[in-house]
Amino acid sequence: MEKDIKILAIESSCDETAAAVVKNGREVLSNVISSQIDLHKLYGGVVPEIASRKHIEKINQVIGEALEIADTSLEDLDAVAVTYGPGLVGALLVGVAEAKAISYAKKLPLVGVHHIEGHISANYIENKDLEPPFICLVVSGGHTHLVKVKEYGVYEILGCTRDDAAGEAFDKVARAIGLGYPGGPKIDRLSKEGNPNAIPFPKAKIAEAPLDFSFSGLKSAVLNYLNGCRMRGETVIEADVAASFQKAVVDVLTEHAVEAVKEAGLDKLALAGGVASNSALRESVQRACRENGFRFFSPSPLLCTDNAAMIGAAAYYEYKKGVRHGLDLNAVPGLKLGER
Ligand code: KG4
Ligand code: ZN
Repeated sequence: MEKDIKILAIESSCDETAAAVVKNGREVLSNVISSQIDLHKLYGGVVPEIASRKHIEKINQVIGEALEIADTSLEDLDAVAVTYGPGLVGALLVGVAEAKAISYAKKLPLVGVHHIEGHISANYIENKDLEPPFICLVVSGGHTHLVKVKEYGVYEILGCTRDDAAGEAFDKVARAIGLGYPGGPKIDRLSKEGNPNAIPFPKAKIAEAPLDFSFSGLKSAVLNYLNGCRMRGETVIEADVAASFQKAVVDVLTEHAVEAVKEAGLDKLALAGGVASNSALRESVQRACRENGFRFFSPSPLLCTDNAAMIGAAAYYEYKKGVRHGLDLNAVPGLKLGER
């Protein structure tokens, strides 16, 4: 029998300070998340400088808790993993510096992880039989990608957004309706009371790249609709606006994802990223998978939004391949998927 591999994973790319201990890539022994949302809410979005300072304040406590819950000491670990990009540079640096210090002090191998690879790998945690190849629709605050996962850690990007990410569109539309930050979960909730067919918002298609996305036209259409109503003195039915906007996003994401699976000749579709916790998107993609005979995978909502367990899952497969980073590992805010 192979020896168990226990990895301490650290994630600090945006506004969550997170640490987890993950065994053999799929068994989460602890998953601690300290969210800064309440702080950033006051400003209507993430303030990078505040995020970095809060990470510094919280990181040791969060790691301590993760080790305690997992009943593990630093001496029991096989490696330390950390998100080194993409993300906010000051925020990433806190996690990277911490991981390097632990690696140096305890002579542990260091594995740097791509944040999006983490989101994709969140699927391995609860779906023990999921193995590549499969298609993953990655929808977060900063990314909207259709990715072919060819094998562990090997990716091909089949489509991406030309402008706003899906989560960004949710956040901007929520702000325009007056729902506050973060907008995704609020639109999700409000949409349940609205009519998704009330307003025919546009669904952008890019002729020369049918798997790419564009959400900025949709966002402008929502803003124009709201302004038009206000100028004419008409009452805005906010739940209808939210539900119609959400439907436009969900329809496009579902159609493109199904097309990507068909084109790749595969039969497995997974969701990943914060927007993957959207209830309408989960229902729609699950239904489409059923209709097309695909297997559907999705992490539970807590593993869709930023966390460190997903980083530990991704790190395991990198570790097994022999990927090790040196103490010169730096934060790379614009890191591309598949880059080392
Ligand atoms: O993956 P994530 O936690 O952070 C990034 O890597 O960006 O994603 C955050 C994004 C935010 O834009 C948030 O509004 C969106 O995910 N989000 C949602 C939902 N929950 C979070 N969007 C739609 N519906 C939700 N239920
Ligand atoms: Zn994320």
